[in-house]
Amino acid sequence: MDGDADLVERIRAYPRRRTYLLPALHDVQHSLGWLPGEALETVGAHLRVPKSEVYGVASSFPDFNLTEPAEHTTRRCIGVACRLAGAAAGPAADASSEADCLFICGVAPASERDGQLIGRGDRPLQTVKAENSAVLVQDGSCSRAVADTAHAGGRSVGCAGNCWQAPAISRDGGQSWTSAVGGELWTQPGEPRLLRNIGRIDPLQPRGYKALQRAQSLGSDAVWQLVKDSGLRGRGGAYFPVGAKWETARNTAAPQKFLLVNAEEGEPGIYKDRHLLEGDPHRVLEGAFIAALGIGATNVVIFINGEARLAQERLLAALDRARQLGVAGVWIEVRLGAGGYVLGEETALINAIHGMRAEPLARPPFPAVSGLQSSPTVINNVESLANLPDIILNGADWFRSVGSASNPGTKLISLAGSVRRPGLYEVPLGTPIGRIVDDCGGGASGELSAVLVGGPSGSILPPSLLDTPLDTQSLQAVGGVLGAAGIVPLTSDQCVVQTVRELVAYNSRESCGKCTPCREGTLRMRDLFDDLRGGHAATSVLERIDELNDVLQYASLCGLGQMAPNPVRALLRHFPDDVGDHLRGHCAARVCTSNGVTR
Ligand SMILES: Cc1cc2nc3c(=O)[nH]c(=O)nc-3n(C[C@H](O)[C@H](O)[C@H](O)COP(=O)(O)O)c2cc1C
Ligand code: SF4
Repeated sequence: MDGDADLVERIRAYPRRRTYLLPALHDVQHSLGWLPGEALETVGAHLRVPKSEVYGVASSFPDFNLTEPAEHTTRRCIGVACRLAGAAAGPAADASSEADCLFICGVAPASERDGQLIGRGDRPLQTVKAENSAVLVQDGSCSRAVADTAHAGGRSVGCAGNCWQAPAISRDGGQSWTSAVGGELWTQPGEPRLLRNIGRIDPLQPRGYKALQRAQSLGSDAVWQLVKDSGLRGRGGAYFPVGAKWETARNTAAPQKFLLVNAEEGEPGIYKDRHLLEGDPHRVLEGAFIAALGIGATNVVIFINGEARLAQERLLAALDRARQLGVAGVWIEVRLGAGGYVLGEETALINAIHGMRAEPLARPPFPAVSGLQSSPTVINNVESLANLPDIILNGADWFRSVGSASNPGTKLISLAGSVRRPGLYEVPLGTPIGRIVDDCGGGASGELSAVLVGGPSGSILPPSLLDTPLDTQSLQAVGGVLGAAGIVPLTSDQCVVQTVRELVAYNSRESCGKCTPCREGTLRMRDLFDDLRGGHAATSVLERIDELNDVLQYASLCGLGQMAPNPVRALLRHFPDDVGDHLRGHCAARVCTSNGVTR
């Protein structure tokens, strides 16, 4: 630190308030590659935070390096899509070279070398050259992981969702796409709303902010009423009605109110918010400005995943442009996360912005009453906000014209795993799961044996339930949850017990440890699954799993622990034969072995 006068100066330039702890730590890590003790001390002294607490905060974020990293680093993704695509879990001692998800599941298996994402195994980057400026070249995270699309020429656009074709180009203005290395033509299925322009527009070119202008002419009350009438539910996973959340903040008297945009997106297998921010960041910003108006928010904070680098770059560039155009109208700030699934939980986000550990808080008070700086704070997901410009321009009835009565509108689906066309798709809520796999994904890549829906807090469903409509109530009826709407088909050579074991193990790694039921319970659940998977579980293991599920659901502080039982319960309910086989030491898929437990 002594030798880095610039860095010390930058740290001292922060206002001396704890809320700048995360930005200051980012600054240090960006300059030095890690957080040496001396730097923690300098940051703490300036922000008036005890060194022990600076350490406590830094250590709660997995992306901060508290030891000096090697000169060159490689991380292999061990997320479910990458495992299914052939990425093997490494030896337990090698955990630092593993990532739970690198969020380019459409080009699995993925890895990262010295910060560069690499898709489809270890192949070298392809060179793409567009022959003229009429050729559209998709330039998103997936494309950049397989080819040098940043320097391909042509007209650079976001990814239309066809990650499986990356690097993809279009010679007809984005009507149809082909991979730059050849293959079939593809057109976007259905009638997308949120993805309508992605792949056709320059992501950074503002599109007039007409919806914001209309919202301003309607005024705050009418905007709120319209959003309430639309029936839009939050797309971050809880599906809480957006209008109702705004109403609480509107009705709470306070000199300042916040909109906190949740762009943290840390759930493995989910890449929808990144996709929107990479391909159409002005849509998200316009949605945020409309929301601020409808809520009566004086301040907007956008909290974006620290590793979503392309999404950050495009969001910041679009924000600069919006500021130049004078459309922002509110005080607005962008904050970066530093990893961890639980950080996306809304009260953990607030804690992080306040310079505290990435741990959830007990409720009440709910953030809409008392959140950032103890002021009313509405937290909305990126996809929720991206719906607002269309609602303002087209009205509530138009929004309700697709989807189901209780779940109107469309939903972005992150589709990966054993499917022919992994990518990001948009379907009306209520579309049967099987149709998504077939019509969007081109079908499973082998004999379909199960479908994971909703990620590590979601469920595993058998092929007999493929008719289940993708909405919250229909899924609930079969013991599922929609969550952020990741769908991962499995084939018969993949073991359902092993797959759920990986979700259980993930939840135990991501438990922040603040409350005992989750900290101990998820770990114990993982051990029980290892017994089951290894073929040495007693029959009573099922009773113990049931008991543990109840404790986790009822006694955990936040959604991570409360929903950790979901995939386990779905497995026991829908795959009793596979569970029974494992109790007898037999794995039909021949995946589980008595000594093959990974982590
Ligand atoms: C463990 C956990 C992780 C979460 N991660 C995210 C996330 O990455 N992005 C998100 O928008 N919501 C996430 N949520 C949900 C948020 O707490 C919150 O409900 C959401 O941001 C509200 O926005 P919405 O009403 O527009 O959906 C998470 C919840 C839990 C329990
Ligand atoms: S439920 Fe788990 S993740 Fe949530 S606060 Fe408790 S320990 Fe942390």
